[in-house]
Amino acid sequence: VFRNKLDFFAAAKIPSSFPPPTIPEIAFAGVSNVGKSSLLNALTRQWGIVRTSDKPGLTQSINFFKLASKLCLVDLPGYGFAYAKDEVKESWQELVKEYVSNRVGLDRVCLLVHTKRGMKPLDYELIDLMERYKTPYQIVLTKTDLVFPIDVARRAMEIQESLKKNKSVVKPVMMVSSKTGAGIRNLRGVLGKLARF
Ligand code: GTP
Ligand code: MG
Repeated sequence: VFRNKLDFFAAAKIPSSFPPPTIPEIAFAGVSNVGKSSLLNALTRQWGIVRTSDKPGLTQSINFFKLASKLCLVDLPGYGFAYAKDEVKESWQELVKEYVSNRVGLDRVCLLVHTKRGMKPLDYELIDLMERYKTPYQIVLTKTDLVFPIDVARRAMEIQESLKKNKSVVKPVMMVSSKTGAGIRNLRGVLGKLARF
């Protein structure tokens, strides 16, 4: 399914502008700059359709993309970055929280975690919500190229342990680098199963 052409089709800053859910949907969430937009590019091998940047806070709305009419991929704004004005920060966080709690037809949230930095309080907040609303989610460690393989494994085990009582988490923790392509095929395999054929 990831070979299909990726098309941008909607952006939303408020829940009432979310497009109607019609096809299976996978969203990418996580702290600012963790590599959400880059992962979308790597998964689809279509660089430049999803914008990425060195500066945290680039993605400011919820952006909906389609792979033919088989799968919807959703790039969420990052949360918790330091430079934004408080009220702007608040509104993005509220938007993401609302989306992961109440979005109809949301099949999976990939919660991206920077391998070097680990889980942040806002990640756990989002996880609590997804547990409460029974939203299936999985953890994806990003930027694995920045640390030694042993540290990637350690981080994955630490997170697995901290979530072992959780019910909506889809195992195992996945590990990727959008830069080297490590783990991307694996993740495509896992997510591809959710597509409509
Ligand atoms: P926001 O939209 O601000 O929330 O950020 P984002 O999570 O979408 O991050 P984005 O994909 O824009 O990437 C942020 C920065 O990290 C960019 O400079 C990327 O080039 C870099 N980056 C992304 N993936 C990787 C990776 O796998 N390895 C390395 N070394 N850098 C990466
Ligand atoms: Mg982004």
